[in-house]
Amino acid sequence: MPRLSQLSRSITSKVAIVTGAASGMGRATAHLFADEGAHVAVVDQNGDGVAEVTDEITAAGGSAAGWALDVSDSTALASMVDDVVRRWGGLDILINNAGISRGAPIDHAEYEAAWDRTLEVNLTAQVKLIRLALPHLLASGAGRIVNIASTEGLGASAFASPYTAAKHGVVGLTRSMAVELGSRGITVNCICPGPIHTGMTEAIPDAAKTKFARRRVPLRRYGDPEEVAHGTLNFVLPASSYINGVVMQVDGGLRVQNT
Ligand code: NAI
Repeated sequence: MPRLSQLSRSITSKVAIVTGAASGMGRATAHLFADEGAHVAVVDQNGDGVAEVTDEITAAGGSAAGWALDVSDSTALASMVDDVVRRWGGLDILINNAGISRGAPIDHAEYEAAWDRTLEVNLTAQVKLIRLALPHLLASGAGRIVNIASTEGLGASAFASPYTAAKHGVVGLTRSMAVELGSRGITVNCICPGPIHTGMTEAIPDAAKTKFARRRVPLRRYGDPEEVAHGTLNFVLPASSYINGVVMQVDGGLRVQNT
C-alpha cells in the first residue's frame, strides 16, 4: 500500500531570511533552520552579533551568511535581499522577527519619538521586507512568511502603547497578507510569543519574572527562545501548505488563563 502521508517536513536547501537573528528568538530560529538544512541569512543591526551567530552556525556544519543592517533602512534591505538571492539562487522563507521594546507613557515627553521608532522597526520594516521579498517568494512556488508579533498583539499592558499598537498591526498585516497572497501560493502566519528569556527581557529581575510567571502563565515559567523557534519552523514546513492566516500564541497558555 502506498504511504498515506506524502508531504515533506524537510526545509533542506530552502533559503530563509531571519531578521533580529543576533539574539534571542531570531538567533534560535536561525540555528534551528540551519540545523534543519536551510541556508540562513542572519540579519541584524548588531554587527558583532551577526558575525557570532553566523560563525556558530557554520562551525556546527550549517549554511549561513550575515548582513549587518538596520531593518528600517530600505536601501540596505533591498541590497540584502538581492545578495541573498544571488548567493543561494532564490528565497523561500521570510521571518520578520526584529523588534524593540521601549516603555512609553502616553503623556511622556519622549512619547512621539518612541512611537515613531517602534512603529518603524516593529511594523513598517516587516511591510518593507515583505514587498522586497515578494517576487522571490512567488518564484519559489511555495513561499512562507512568518511575522513575529506578541501577546501584546492580542491584548494590552499599560505604558507600552507604541509596542502594543505595532504588534496589533503585525497581526492585522499577517491576516491581510494571508488573504491577499494565499491565491498566489504564499502562506503568511504569525507567532505571538508570551514572556521569553531573551535580550529583550534580560533586565527584568529573576524574582519579578518568577512572580509574573507563577501568577499569569499556566506553565509557571518563562519560555525559551528555542520553544518559539519550533513554532515558527512548523509554519514554514512544505507540509504546512494549508496553514495560512494563523495567529498562534506560544505563551505557555498565558492568553487563555482567566484567573
Ligand atoms: P532580543 O532583544 O533578544 O532580539 C531582538 C534582536 O533584534 C536583537 O538582536 C536586535 O539587535 C535586533 N534589532 C532590533 N532593532 C533592529 C533594527 N532596527 N534592525 C535590525 N535588527 C534590529 O529580543 P527577542 O525577545 O528575541 O525579540 C524578537 C521578537 O520577539 C521581537 O519582535 C519582539 O518584539 C518579540 N517578542 C518578544 C517577547 C519576549 O518576551 N522576549 C515577547 C513577545 C514578543
